[in-house]
Amino acid sequence: MNAKLEKNADSKPEKKIRAFDLINLKKNQKKITALTAYDHLTAYLLDQSGIDLILIGDSLANVFLGLDHTFQIGMSEMLYHTRAVSSAVKQALIVADMPFLSYQISISEALVNAANLMKAGANAVKVEGASDLTIEIIRKCQEIGIPVIGHLGYTPQSAETIGLGRIQGRTEEKAEQIINQAMSLEQAGIFGLVLEMIPADLAKQITKTLKIPTIGIGAGIECDGQVLVTPDLLGLTENNFKFTKKYANLAQDIKSAVKNYISDIREHKFPTAENSF
Ligand code: KIV
Repeated sequence: MNAKLEKNADSKPEKKIRAFDLINLKKNQKKITALTAYDHLTAYLLDQSGIDLILIGDSLANVFLGLDHTFQIGMSEMLYHTRAVSSAVKQALIVADMPFLSYQISISEALVNAANLMKAGANAVKVEGASDLTIEIIRKCQEIGIPVIGHLGYTPQSAETIGLGRIQGRTEEKAEQIINQAMSLEQAGIFGLVLEMIPADLAKQITKTLKIPTIGIGAGIECDGQVLVTPDLLGLTENNFKFTKKYANLAQDIKSAVKNYISDIREHKFPTAENSF
């Protein structure tokens, strides 16, 4: 399928979702739907399906590039994939992850990197954690017109210090720390907060405390919205994480399509006269 051609043929009215719309969705108690995309075609299909938010997650390190950690990629990969996604999307809010070390060194470097993601087509950026520097960067981004989403709980860029895939906020002390961080991020000006792999009760408490929406992944049903890694939802990856749900089994579908193609060629069934000039 040629997404560009199909897009031109489709003349549906479009309404672009902006950062402030997410806050209104929370006010109106309407759940926010979010998924990741790393390429043009997937982004196009998600957008056409009516998803609210498309995240160019740095999970592309794992699911797109086959690397072990999200901290193994940088700005060049994020810019490349942000361009591919943003050229396909008409309605969804496009959020690009700020990769490891793009916002941990200095405010000026972080602002240039965030601005470059916006120039590549993002409508907002996402940062992990709530260090003093991150809080300051969020404030500055606000000042210059860059909307920011926060990310607390399990923050994959810190996997080596917090433990790979480990649920966060299980003790009272840690839970309180995450609540305080969430409030500091809100005060600094984030318009949404991803909560990853924390107990459902803690996510509920944070969701009730904040005016901005929470978007959960492995954080229970009470968040204002949910996000998943699209290849997990489509059954393209072989992950069996407790918090994901497979809505399709594309790995099987692809293997069987390719096997059929191979046998058609070997059995002289493709191409037929219909496919020939
Ligand atoms: O990188 C990513 O895909 C993410 C989501 C899991 C929230 O940060």
